[in-house]
Order: sequence, then structure tokens, then C-alpha cells
Amino acid sequence: MVIGRLYERVVVPRLVHWGMKSERLRPLRASTVAAAQGRVLEIGIGSGLNFPFYGRDVEEVVGIDPSPSLLARAGKAGGWMPFKIRLVCQSAEHLPYPDASFDCVVATWSLCSILDVEATLAEAHRVLRPEGRFVFIEHGAAPSPGLCRWQRRLTPVWRRLAGGCHLHRRPDRLLTAAGFELETLETGHLVDGPRLVTFHYQGIARR
Ligand SMILES: C[S@@+](CC[C@H](N)C(=O)[O-])C[C@H]1O[C@@H](n2cnc3c(N)ncnc32)[C@H](O)[C@@H]1O
Repeated sequence: MVIGRLYERVVVPRLVHWGMKSERLRPLRASTVAAAQGRVLEIGIGSGLNFPFYGRDVEEVVGIDPSPSLLARAGKAGGWMPFKIRLVCQSAEHLPYPDASFDCVVATWSLCSILDVEATLAEAHRVLRPEGRFVFIEHGAAPSPGLCRWQRRLTPVWRRLAGGCHLHRRPDRLLTAAGFELETLETGHLVDGPRLVTFHYQGIARR
């Protein structure tokens, strides 16, 4: 029990930071986050690895994440950015913001880890202004039935080791079920690596 909690509080944030700062993810971060503009809410911001990729049209990034140690890293990473940054230690399932208060919501490899992803997307939909963009890159269910079966089988163990990460979610379906309209969607094994985690969904959804 104590070891489990220590693993989650101490080891998982380090693993997340070191795993997510991989060079091979940088082009995907850049192409995703380039679509952000205005007042941005980044859900599951982790250690702030997207900051360098936000463009000139971004005025403010509000980053939320329940991990204090990842947010501490994000605070350091955001030191010299040319836009306002506000970091909030909070789960995305309940967002403390008024309706239609953001121009854009960003999620990069975070929908896989959030326990109640349906509640999170309902909240994201609520806080986005009409026509606002939800921009995302997420790994998820592979189209090969055999591979997807393994993703389902391994998720209960993987979740415990990898900060709650689900291998077989369908971000596209989750977004449309939450009321978003998919504007662009690219799918495929977009990075090299173990095929259980390399099938990606990248795109823009509109409120
Ligand atoms: C794989 S990491 C991705 C981090 C970051 N988005 C990136 O691209 O490097 C998943 C992130 O989701 C966060 N997370 C987990 N549960 C969450 C929740 N309920 N609400 C918001 N973020 C959550 C984790 O703390 C972690 O920072």
C-alpha cells in the first residue's frame, strides 16, 4: 500500500517526464500545438513540454494537472515564455472555470491517463467558447483486432505501472460522444516504438 503510493507520487512523475520528453515526440507536439490560439486550457499539462511549441497567437496557457511534482517542473519550463502561464493543481474532471471561457483546449497524451475521460471531455466542451478548438494528439486503440485485443488485455496491468494510462481508448469516438465535431483527424503508427503504444490519433475538434 505505502509502496504503491510512493511509486505513484515519486516514481510515476519522473517516468512521465523522462518518457514524454523523448525527441521522437517533438514533431508531433509541434504539429499539434501549432493550432492553439488565444486563451488556452491545457489538460494534463505534465511537465510543460509543449510550451516551446506554442505560437504567437497564444495569449495565455492555463495548465491543469493533479501532480504537484510535474507542475513544479512545468513552472520551471514556463519561465521564459512570451505568453501568460497559470498552473493549477487539479483534476480535469471538474474544471473551476465559467462556461465558454477558453478559445482552445489542448490535450497531448493525457486523455489516456484521466480516469473519468467522459466527464473531462464534457467539462472541456463546457468551458470552450462556441466554435472553439480542441486540439489533440493521443495514443489509443490500434485498428488491428489482434493488437487491440492485447491492448485491452494488458491495460489493467499497464495502468498500474504507467500512471493510469489506458492502451485502448478511442479519442475520436470519445470526442464526438462529448458533442465535438471532428475537423481534422490523422491516425496511424505515427512514431517508432512498441506497437502497443504507437497508434496515434491527432487532430482538431470543434465545439
Ligand atoms: C502521459 S502524461 C502526458 C503529459 C503531457 N500532456 C505531455 O504531453 O507531456 C499524462 C498526464 O495526465 C495527467 N493526468 C492524470 N490524471 C489526470 C486528471 N484526472 N486530470 C488532469 N490530468 C491528469 C498526469 O498527471 C500526466 O501529467
